[in-house]
Amino acid sequence: MRRIKTKHRGPLHGEITPPADKSISHRAIMFASLAEGNSTISNFLQAEDPLRTLQAFRKMGIEIDDSDKNRIMVKGRGLHGLSAPEDVIDCGNSGTTMRLMSGVLAAQSFSSVLSGDKFLRKRPMGRIIKPLSEMGADIVPEPGGYPPLHIKGKNLQPVTYNSPIASAQVKSAILLAGLYCKGRTTFTEPGKSRDHTERMLLSCGADITINDLEVSIQGTKGLTPFEITIPGDLSSASFFIVAALIVPDSDIVIKNAGINPTRTGVIEILQSMGGEISLQHEHEVSGEPVADIRVRHSRLSGTDIGGDLVLRAIDEFPVICVASAMARGKTRISGAAELRVKESDRIASMSTELKKMGVNVEEFEDGLAVEGSEKIRSATVQSHGDHRIAMSLAIAGLPIEGETTVEDTECVNTSFPGFTDLLDTLYSS
Ligand code: S3P
Repeated sequence: MRRIKTKHRGPLHGEITPPADKSISHRAIMFASLAEGNSTISNFLQAEDPLRTLQAFRKMGIEIDDSDKNRIMVKGRGLHGLSAPEDVIDCGNSGTTMRLMSGVLAAQSFSSVLSGDKFLRKRPMGRIIKPLSEMGADIVPEPGGYPPLHIKGKNLQPVTYNSPIASAQVKSAILLAGLYCKGRTTFTEPGKSRDHTERMLLSCGADITINDLEVSIQGTKGLTPFEITIPGDLSSASFFIVAALIVPDSDIVIKNAGINPTRTGVIEILQSMGGEISLQHEHEVSGEPVADIRVRHSRLSGTDIGGDLVLRAIDEFPVICVASAMARGKTRISGAAELRVKESDRIASMSTELKKMGVNVEEFEDGLAVEGSEKIRSATVQSHGDHRIAMSLAIAGLPIEGETTVEDTECVNTSFPGFTDLLDTLYSS
């Protein structure tokens, strides 16, 4: 998939099921590999990022049978069952693979090297190296704290760490390392980042205590194998939520989407802009809340977004910017400096590309202001190698008569290989 072309094709109708949750797919492979015995994973996300994690554990001797893509079997070998990888572990574009695996690899009896593509090699790793080093880890990055990471396995010590940033990747790396420590490791963060790691650790019998922003884990206790069914990814669903909101006369249902409260900021933000979004059939699957989401075309108004909502919608800002560009009035996003260190600098990427479509955007260090406009026009725009920028810009083209071309869209495969096919189904019902 090298470019995606979109234009107005009428309203979106019908039901879709989004691909499986990416964050949970990574964690399922990791915890199943470290558990003692056989686990099964249903609805694993078959996309490049989580497949990097799967391949990494295979390289370290874990038998993973994915001949049935709907039901993957993992033969876990316990906390100390990994073997040294023969060469560099390539994390591709996946920050989650690199940051979470660092916590595991820092505690092994062997050395390893984690690298990735040119985008991942520009992402900051100091945020995990600092706390892991306090635990006694030996991790040498490139100058400036960038990958590749050269990790020499060590006996780690428990730590009490007050993280300056709210980050599920940092939290998970520390909790994974904490599994290997004699004693209790405690991690506190300034806001509640996504809690999939904590939920999965609880289901594997880990001794973990959660007290609002503080999570602690008692180490050296083995993990029990599990059966998990992974819910749909709300981040992937969000492209369709915004599509239905901005294309006149649309009315769709997105089935089986995860609605973990640490991730639902996007729904609240879009509802506060006037979006008609309702949840149906709320229930729980493998310890995660799930629902069907009905979305109808709505007249949106600009809003101010900051504080806790930023963290709970952190991956959805590219598509929230698209909704803002179609809303009446201005939308201001602040306190979102983390967007600058995602798969691309998402503040700069969205600001540059929306301007090409005739939208007024003002960029700040920690966010941006988007002026909603009826005059948005089609354009040729760039993905910046970032899957969520590519898909968001494709959605931006849907209400416009002329053709919008998004270039350099192979990156979509990191999280959502069937994106355009799924979109097409909403035009045929
Ligand atoms: C993720 C956590 C978030 C998110 C990323 C996936 C995870 O990053 O942006 O796409 O799976 O733990 P941070 O933990 O850096 O906030």
